[in-house]
Amino acid sequence: MTTDFTEQTATPAVVESFARTPDPRLREILSSLTRHLHDFVRDIEPTMQEWEEAIGFLTATGQMCDDTRQEFILLSDVLGVSMLVETINDRKVPGATDSTVLGPFHVVESPPRALGDTIDYVNTGEPCVVTGRVISTDGTPLPGALLDVWQANELGFYDVQQPGVQPLGNGRGLFTADGEGRFWFRTVVPCHYPIPTDGPVGNLLKAAGRHPYRPAHIHFIAGSEGHIPVTTHIFVADSPYLESDAVFAVKKNLVQEFSEVDDPGQAAEYGVANPFRRARFDIVLHPAAVPS
Ligand code: BEZ
Ligand code: FE
Repeated sequence: MTTDFTEQTATPAVVESFARTPDPRLREILSSLTRHLHDFVRDIEPTMQEWEEAIGFLTATGQMCDDTRQEFILLSDVLGVSMLVETINDRKVPGATDSTVLGPFHVVESPPRALGDTIDYVNTGEPCVVTGRVISTDGTPLPGALLDVWQANELGFYDVQQPGVQPLGNGRGLFTADGEGRFWFRTVVPCHYPIPTDGPVGNLLKAAGRHPYRPAHIHFIAGSEGHIPVTTHIFVADSPYLESDAVFAVKKNLVQEFSEVDDPGQAAEYGVANPFRRARFDIVLHPAAVPS
């Protein structure tokens, strides 16, 4: 260990202090964190006042967190870190549907629903039918796959953001795919909406001149026995903000047409008003590694 702290000795001194970390992965992480953090500081050469502001920002971010609000995840989201972590980990499941951020509006238990049910209790939005199949990477259908679905309404609000306005469970459903892995449900076309901006992350976006909007989307978590579950969304192909999602979650193959259908026969078949919009989404799951 050095006894003279200088700009030159700073990084090796701290890296060396972690050299005996027993867990090799933790040792690697701490060493890399030190090197990158020191490089960042050398790059920006913060004034003492800027450093205090940075600490103040992180403190406020932590203070904003509670059981229902996770401002650090939101920070990771708007910095593109959440999606970078998702995308790096997607390498391990080639051929599977791309994963995306979970977001703060998932609730642990969506109401269980039968195939074909509506997840919309309010009936003020544009009617929409979503259909698809859950299959394995080799194309085999996954009967009985579980789908947890949640979305904002036609004004861009989740049920949990509007207690007393939307009934709890609106825009949410837990579905079980049929014997051929198929699923279908009724809903309304979701609207784009802003991520929460009443905390430090909102201040950051404002200071950077960035908007807080996410393009319209429907979230899914899909799982099936013997397969790795995926957390993903589909995006409405003609939504604003597809090119500038505040959390960088758009992947080309998750953008789906919500096509206009004007066909009273099909509308009657699905139990929706005519005309309606229709989206298709096949979800591909990767088999879980067989334990050796
Ligand atoms: C969402 O899509 O629900 C979401 C994702 C990340 C941050 C905020 C909202
Ligand atoms: Fe969302």
